[in-house]
Amino acid sequence: MKKIHMVDVVSMYNAHASTIDKTIKKVISSGSYIQGPEVNHFEKKLSYFLNSKFTISCGNGTDALYIALMALDLKRGDEVLVPSFTFVSTVEAVCLLGLVPIFIDIDPNTFLLNHNLIAKSISAKTKAIIPVHLFGQCCDMLAIRNFARKYKLYIVEDAAQSIGSKCIINKNKKLKFSGTIGDIGITSFYPSKNLGAFGDGGAIFTQNKKLANKIKLIANHGQNKKYNHQIIGLNSRLDAVQAAVLSFKLTLLKKHNNKRKKIAKEYNSRLSNLDWIKVPVIKEDSDHVFHQYSIVLSNKIIRKKFQAYLLRHEIPTMIYYPIPLHKQKAYRMYNKKPLPVSEKISRQIISLPMHSEMELEQIIFICDVIKKFKLNG
Ligand SMILES: Cc1ncc(COP(=O)(O)O)c(C=O)c1O
Repeated sequence: MKKIHMVDVVSMYNAHASTIDKTIKKVISSGSYIQGPEVNHFEKKLSYFLNSKFTISCGNGTDALYIALMALDLKRGDEVLVPSFTFVSTVEAVCLLGLVPIFIDIDPNTFLLNHNLIAKSISAKTKAIIPVHLFGQCCDMLAIRNFARKYKLYIVEDAAQSIGSKCIINKNKKLKFSGTIGDIGITSFYPSKNLGAFGDGGAIFTQNKKLANKIKLIANHGQNKKYNHQIIGLNSRLDAVQAAVLSFKLTLLKKHNNKRKKIAKEYNSRLSNLDWIKVPVIKEDSDHVFHQYSIVLSNKIIRKKFQAYLLRHEIPTMIYYPIPLHKQKAYRMYNKKPLPVSEKISRQIISLPMHSEMELEQIIFICDVIKKFKLNG
């Protein structure tokens, strides 16, 4: 059996090495490394795949969030609703712009922002909400859109972990890809993401031409032509090499997401009868592209023992996320309230290996080892 990795970007490369090598060589020989035809081609391809009117690539997912919030012209002190149980970037961008994050607790079954808590978190200063489609599953966008309409909030979707997942967006059960539902959506091409580059990369989606033009300006020094700066911007561009690699990898995304779903199904079928493990819940309004396969154990002590036990069998695991953001030194001044579900889940959650190159033999091995774990041993 092959060594088990949490994420296996090298096997993914090896499976397509000759095509990828040729693709990279072609870009290097072209001499066009920043923006240019490869980047335009990738943006068009991604727009077509996601059925998004506009896709603007940028340097990474964190920049994408920052640029998205900049484009909305929010004022210092405006409040933005965010989950606390997420990767730090979501909140980093908010705070860097002088906006105030209002942390919302999560649903204990899906780990996604609990939309039932939105109404009581709204004030006259609330201007936007960032639903994070964590681990590959979409937030309840039907409910979130209704709240956004009612309270006049912008929606900036954080689809860094959910590219290719779709969810229901209205009463007629219309399905849309995550990232293309809100006023603006973003994703990340960090190497371990479902659509990962060989370095950093990100993209911003919008269906609004005015916003798209503004986002394009901001991401490229605020310039519409070389040395013609319309607004204050920054330098956040996708490299041509990454764009070319991503154009190729995009052709595999559906297959890879299906593989992840299949792996999750295998895990579920083997682990769901263990009463000390809670396997991931798949909602009815969204599909789940399993950026992570995360299970919940009863407490932090058991989790520590479980993680060490799996490591002794050469099975890596990760904890996403061990400390919710409202408890982090950098962000706790923004929040004094407890968020009991985020706090509890961060003590209980653990993610098992999940990537497109996993083999059935490895999944069976992992589950057999898990079944032999002695809770009181
Ligand atoms: C939920 C979430 N948002 C934003 C980001 C930021 O993406 P990047 O690492 O490309 O800056 C990530 C990436 O890890 C993420 O998981």
